[in-house]
Amino acid sequence: MLIKRMREWELPERLVTPESVFLNRRAFMAAAGASAAIAGTGGFAGITGARAEEADPSADLYPAARNEMYKVDRPISEEQYNLTYNNFYEFGSHKKIYKAAQELQIRPWEIKIDGEVEKEFTIGIDDLIRKVTLEERVYRHRCVEAWSMTIPWTGFPMNKLLELAKPLSSAKYVRMETFHNPSVAGGQKGNWYPWPYAEGLTIEEAANELTLLVTGAYGKPAAKQLGAPLRLHVPWKYGFKSIKSIVRFEFTSERPTSFWEQLQASEYGFWANVNPNVPHRRWSQANERVMGDPTYERSWETVPTLMFNGYGEHVAHLYKGLENEALYM
Ligand code: MTE
Repeated sequence: MLIKRMREWELPERLVTPESVFLNRRAFMAAAGASAAIAGTGGFAGITGARAEEADPSADLYPAARNEMYKVDRPISEEQYNLTYNNFYEFGSHKKIYKAAQELQIRPWEIKIDGEVEKEFTIGIDDLIRKVTLEERVYRHRCVEAWSMTIPWTGFPMNKLLELAKPLSSAKYVRMETFHNPSVAGGQKGNWYPWPYAEGLTIEEAANELTLLVTGAYGKPAAKQLGAPLRLHVPWKYGFKSIKSIVRFEFTSERPTSFWEQLQASEYGFWANVNPNVPHRRWSQANERVMGDPTYERSWETVPTLMFNGYGEHVAHLYKGLENEALYM
């Protein structure tokens, strides 16, 4: 008789999702017919994110030159894997959302800059992209669910956005928001989630040299399931901080409450810095399963998680004097 042993990283959905949310969703799925949400209708040009007829107006900017400052001692995750194993709850609370995500229309795409700034404004993604210089950076990506990938992102330092936004000195945080459109994102029909997805950083975190606003990956414009046309990547924090498909940057003096924090503050805090020594309330963070790595693919190997995901030399100073805060959840 075969007995399948559950591995450490292989967390059942009820363990990585707040229980109340999981139970509510189960009730909803039973009522609505879960398969409809998962089914892809096909007809897409592969899983790159683009339908054949959609030409990306920024395509000429790719591939961007790689910034060799940020070295990673791991193989890059296979692109196909990265494009088919995603968290994007707007399109479903499972990993296979890539077909559903193709419904998202990423042009025109307006981004609002507001709150405590010299002058509020709205800018189209293509205007924004052409005001900055795109570069490629290979970063580790560590999900709070204890899996990781290594991804060649294309984007620009968030510092450049701060230069354009001109926050006032009273602005201590930047709150970011994802689109809200339940007619294309079926997950947003569920009112048990506090849509739209929102995240926040301190101004110092946003200005850190590592903080990247991502427009592409693997040498081309980002696929929709990765959070096109503009997402964040903060490599020293758990992946849920890296908000996708951003439509708003609001500068504020109040610490914003993020999506997951609103759902389950005892498990998902504001800081969410990677730390192998501080377990999640329901599982260890000491190791991670390396996904989409040709070396480990389909093996069950895990590797030790690194403090600040290996980026401590760039960011540890940001947290001096904050030792009493819940910095690692
Ligand atoms: N952003 C939005 N808008 N919606 C989401 O569900 N999931 C987060 C983050 N950003 C999420 C999001 C989580 S939990 C992770 S781990 C990463 O996106 C996953 O990014 P990936 O699918 O590119 O690996």
